[in-house]
Amino acid sequence: MNKPEDQIFVIFGASGDLTKRKLVPALYSLFVQNLLPDKFVLLGASRSGFSDQEFRTRMKDALNEFKETEDLSGIDSFLTKIYYQKTDPENKNDFNVLSGRLKKLQTENGIHGNMIFYLSTPPNLYPVIPENLSAVSLNHQSDGWKRIVIEKPFGYDLESARNLRDKLLKNWEEEQIFRIDHYLGKETVQNLLVTRFSNGIFEPLWNRNYVHHVEISSAESIGVEERGGYYETSGALRDMVQNHLLQVAGLVAMEPPTSLEPLSIRNEILKVFQSLRPFKPEEIKNNAIRGQYIASKIRGVPVIGYREEKGVNPSSLTETYAAIKFYIDNWRWGGIPFYIRTGKRLPTRVTEIVIHFKPTPHFLFTRDGSTDACNYLVIRIQPDEGILLKFGMKIPGTGFEVQNVNMDFHYSDLSSQRIPSAYERLLYDSMKGDSTLFARSEEVMAAWKFLMPVINAWKTDPSIPLYGYPAGTWGPENADDLIEEKNMTWRYPCKNLADDGIYCEL
Ligand code: BG6
Repeated sequence: MNKPEDQIFVIFGASGDLTKRKLVPALYSLFVQNLLPDKFVLLGASRSGFSDQEFRTRMKDALNEFKETEDLSGIDSFLTKIYYQKTDPENKNDFNVLSGRLKKLQTENGIHGNMIFYLSTPPNLYPVIPENLSAVSLNHQSDGWKRIVIEKPFGYDLESARNLRDKLLKNWEEEQIFRIDHYLGKETVQNLLVTRFSNGIFEPLWNRNYVHHVEISSAESIGVEERGGYYETSGALRDMVQNHLLQVAGLVAMEPPTSLEPLSIRNEILKVFQSLRPFKPEEIKNNAIRGQYIASKIRGVPVIGYREEKGVNPSSLTETYAAIKFYIDNWRWGGIPFYIRTGKRLPTRVTEIVIHFKPTPHFLFTRDGSTDACNYLVIRIQPDEGILLKFGMKIPGTGFEVQNVNMDFHYSDLSSQRIPSAYERLLYDSMKGDSTLFARSEEVMAAWKFLMPVINAWKTDPSIPLYGYPAGTWGPENADDLIEEKNMTWRYPCKNLADDGIYCEL
C-alpha cells in the first residue's frame, strides 16, 4: 500500500467520544504502519478551549486506553503532528480564524492545499459546518483537493436526507463528499466481494435457482447505554437497517462489477437498492416486526428496560428491535425472500449473513432428527470472523443416516494477520480519495425511500404492535413468523461461529 498525498486532516467534534475511541487510534495505527502521508497534520476543532499541548495529552491518554495496535513506541512522534483550534461550528467568525490557522500550519509544515474535514459532530451540524467552510473558501480546490467526511445518520427520513443533500451540493461536488458507513470498512464485509467473485464454486449458486432465502442478523448484547437521547430520535430501523444492514444486503445481492473501480461497484449496489420491492401499506404488519426490550435478568443479573434508560421517554415507542422481510425484484433474486433483523439487548453480539440453499429435490436418506436439512453458508462479520458451510454427511455405520456437519474457516487461524479496524480502512481510503467503501447519495436516498412506508406506518398506525421482549432474549417471538415455512426459523448464532442453537455459549 502506498501513502496518501500530503494533507491536513481536520476533525470537527474533536473533544467527542468518536475522536478518542476510533478516529485517533485508527490514525495512529496507520502511522505505525507508515501509511500516513510524509507531511501530515491532524487538527482537532471543537468548542472546548484546549491548547495544542492539552489536546495532545488527551489524545495520548486515548491512545493508551483505546489502542488498535500493540506498538505504542511511536506515540510521542505521532503527537507532534497534532494541533488544536477552538472552533464553534455555528460561529462564522471562528471559521475565519480556522482558515488563518490552516494557512499557518500549511506554511510551517510545507503542505499544499489538500484537506479533509471530518464531521464527527451531532447531525444538526452536518449542513452548518460545510456551509461555514465554504464561506471562507475552504471548499475551493485550486490549491489542492478538499473533502468532507460525514458520519451517519445522513438525514432522519427521506425528506430531511434530500434537504441535507441539496444543502451540501450547493457548495460541494458529490466527489468531495464521503459518507461513512463503518460497516463497509469492516474487513469481513469486504471479504464478501472476494468470497463471491474470486471463487468459482459459489457464484453459480448465488441466485434464485439455488438459494432459498437470505438472512442478515446483527445482534448486540448491550442496551442503549449513554445514547438514550440519540436513540430516541432513531430506533433500530434508522440506526442499523437504513444504512449498515442494507449496505450489507447490497453486497450480498449485487451483480459482479465490471472492475474494482469505485463507480463500478457502487453502481451495482445502487441497482440492488433500486430493485427493492416497495412495501405496500397493508403488508407492513406482516413483513416488519418491531420490539422494545423490557427489564429482565441476564445470567442472574437484573437489567433495566429501555424505558428506564437515561434520556429515554418513560412511555417511549421507539423500537430497539427490528426485523423485516423483503424482496429484490430482479432476475437474479426474483421471488427469494431476504430477512434482516437487528436489536439491542439480545443474548450475544453477533453479525452474520446466512445464505440458505434450497433442499435437494428428492431426499433419499434418513435424517438424524435435526430440522436444518439444507446446506447453508454463514459469513460471519463479527465476532469469531470467518466462514462456515453446513453440509450433510453419512453417519458412520449401517444404513444411510445423514447428519449436517461444519466446514469452517476462522480468521483467528491466520494468527499473523491482524484485522484492521473499519475506521482505519475508511480513513486511509478517504485520505487517498478512494470512495468505493463510502455510501453514495443515490444509495442513501434509495434506502430511505425503501424504508419510509415502514417508518410512517410504525409512527401512525397504532394497530401495529410494539412487542416487549425481555432483555437478553432473541427479540419478539412474532419475528419467527416472518420466516413462514415449516421447520424454518432464524439461525440462533453463538459466540463461536461453528455453533448455533438456543443453549450455546453466548
Ligand atoms: C452504530 C450504531 O452505527 O453501529 C450503534 O449507531 C451500534 O447503535 C453500532 O451499536 C454497531 O456497530 P458495530 O461495529 O459494533 O457492529
